Amino acid sequence: GPVQPPDLTKCHLATDAALQNQVYCCPPYSVETTTQIYDFKLPDPSEPMRTRRPAHDYGQQNLEKYKAALTAMKGLPLDHPWNFFQQAQIHCAYCQGAYGQVGYPDVDIQVHQSFLFPPWHRFYMYFWERILGKLINDPTFALPFWQWDDPVGMQFPDIYLDPNSPLYDVHRNLNHYKTLMDFRYARGDPNPNSSDYPKIEGMNLHLINRIFREGLRTPSTFMGEPVVAGQVPRCPGQLQLLHDTIHQWSGPETSPFWDMGNFNTAARDPIFFGHHANVDRMWHLYRNFNGGNVEFKTKDWLDATFLFVDENNRVVSDSLDAEKMRYTYETEQLKWWNIPK
Ligand code: C2O
Repeated sequence: GPVQPPDLTKCHLATDAALQNQVYCCPPYSVETTTQIYDFKLPDPSEPMRTRRPAHDYGQQNLEKYKAALTAMKGLPLDHPWNFFQQAQIHCAYCQGAYGQVGYPDVDIQVHQSFLFPPWHRFYMYFWERILGKLINDPTFALPFWQWDDPVGMQFPDIYLDPNSPLYDVHRNLNHYKTLMDFRYARGDPNPNSSDYPKIEGMNLHLINRIFREGLRTPSTFMGEPVVAGQVPRCPGQLQLLHDTIHQWSGPETSPFWDMGNFNTAARDPIFFGHHANVDRMWHLYRNFNGGNVEFKTKDWLDATFLFVDENNRVVSDSLDAEKMRYTYETEQLKWWNIPK
């Protein structure tokens, strides 16, 4: 059967991926919130659409809103479920083993390395975006996406680089500032020479093109392999693998690779959400290329369920039948779509 939501009362210590240390990342939900779990409801169709725009072309006004919202989020009491740090802890909890599966206490819930990767992160960002909008009273607030599938986005976007901005994070690979990202990057690689940029940009575009071409034939190639309750997921899709490289490229090169290079802490860097908005956009494009078809029609996918705290501070349980979530992506020209093999 499908992976079930965690029993919040049984949250336990998790493990930092690099240090193999025990870490605490259970949510600060109150007893009342956890005994009353709401079913996810799609937003009302009359709600305004949130249009996510590229980070390199986000617009000054949007940036000011984003900064205000993040400042508010970072200023919440540390035990508030919307607090920036607590929101990052959600990622730790679902990825570093804070929850044993109901019925399989020795198998932790893990939302990477399988077909749960795209939908879990979709919900995660969906609530993050709505909470931020709520904090500034703006129902149109929409996240930027880090458009690394276009040469203009194959570097850290400027909005994340201002040390005085709440979008900044000190735990990054400073050596990669203002350099081109190579999708073949592995930790320790030297920066490419600028004379090689055109070639690397071309190879990056080809890689995305190939991920889509191959993935369109087989959803599990793109999304990740199916996983069921009680099973340890081990087969990430091509989308996750590319995403992993970008995490490593963003984070520092030395252990424990905080923030972006380690699942424990990755979401403590605001760029995480720009990165994942683009991962989500890749899935959005993938589905459009597939004529809007849902990738997996099995209950194991459609009924896999997670728990998040929403913008009304309620714990909601989400399964994957969600559509019409009232956000979309600005349409961009896709430089990788029509390129010859
Ligand atoms: Cu849950 Cu980018 O990883």
